[in-house]
Amino acid sequence: MRVVSGIQPTGNLHLGNYLGAIRNWVRMQDEMEEGSECLFFLADLHALSQPHDPAGLRAATLEMAAALVACGIDPDRSVLFNQAQVPAHAELQWLLNGTARMGWLNRMTQWKDKAGKNREGQSVALFTYPVLQAADVLLYQATHVPVGEDQKQHLELARDIAQKFNNDFCTEDAPVFTLPEPIIPGEAARIMSLRDGTAKMSKSDPSEMSRINLVDDADTIMQKVKKAKTDPEPLPSEVAGLDGRPEAANLVGIFAALAGQEPAAVLAQFGGQGFGAFKPALGELLVETLGPIGARFRQLKEDAEALDAILARGAAKARERGVPTLNAAYRALGLVRH
Ligand code: TRP
Repeated sequence: MRVVSGIQPTGNLHLGNYLGAIRNWVRMQDEMEEGSECLFFLADLHALSQPHDPAGLRAATLEMAAALVACGIDPDRSVLFNQAQVPAHAELQWLLNGTARMGWLNRMTQWKDKAGKNREGQSVALFTYPVLQAADVLLYQATHVPVGEDQKQHLELARDIAQKFNNDFCTEDAPVFTLPEPIIPGEAARIMSLRDGTAKMSKSDPSEMSRINLVDDADTIMQKVKKAKTDPEPLPSEVAGLDGRPEAANLVGIFAALAGQEPAAVLAQFGGQGFGAFKPALGELLVETLGPIGARFRQLKEDAEALDAILARGAAKARERGVPTLNAAYRALGLVRH
């Protein structure tokens, strides 16, 4: 099994980021068997597809690396790196550009959503983004790619590209690329704003009280939970009773995700009780799980040197892993290199 996945570097990391992709990666790493490996990378090359600020990108890349390590990605067990230090990603993308079809890319919903009515004004990189993503995984013969539901179509495209390349340029018994399987986590808890249960928890919400940041200390976490918006009713005993109560549903969902329980189990425990009882329990659970992560994160974030060293080491390993496939792709295409 070879697991490969990427994440876009963003700053101001919060609980939603942790309970989304990051915790899932840590679990996969921890379940890896002898002879299997995870490669996790920061998709910094993908950031060029949208207007970006270079200093901000560097800071976000280091911050995301710090968060991954603080949350439990172990650079000794997993290969942790950023794309920009592994030129084979960009090289393989170019080789795959000969195989990917305009029609395929035109059907990508993320392209359609992000470009909107202004396709002519978009960067070429936004359009070819999924080809780079295909290169990211095909380079390492990924067998499994954990991604959110929104990335499933990009993974299907990677399979189509791999298949066409193998068909067009390889003999049947010696395909260059492995077709990767997406792993979509079952219903991931959608973590919503603490101020508005109908809006996603977001780094760009102007209110700090709307989110629990990874940098928050215990007091701040308790404060934010205490001030979280609720309604006057006690918690219901059944999940159906959360309908139409987005704030209550969100807090129960957060508790469930952190405790590794179903919301029904949380309500079996807290049903009938008011928020005066539930909030302190939730706050304690948050402090217990995020406390050690936050402490490590705050410390690592300031240590650019240590982070650079981790990423350099990971990139060296990734470059090694990618060489055979990149060479095979050049060879299959008849490109001469000495
Ligand atoms: N496009 C992915 C996202 O926005 C990030 C990503 C880039 C990725 N390359 C990848 C994910 C390769 C999985 C595999 O979430």
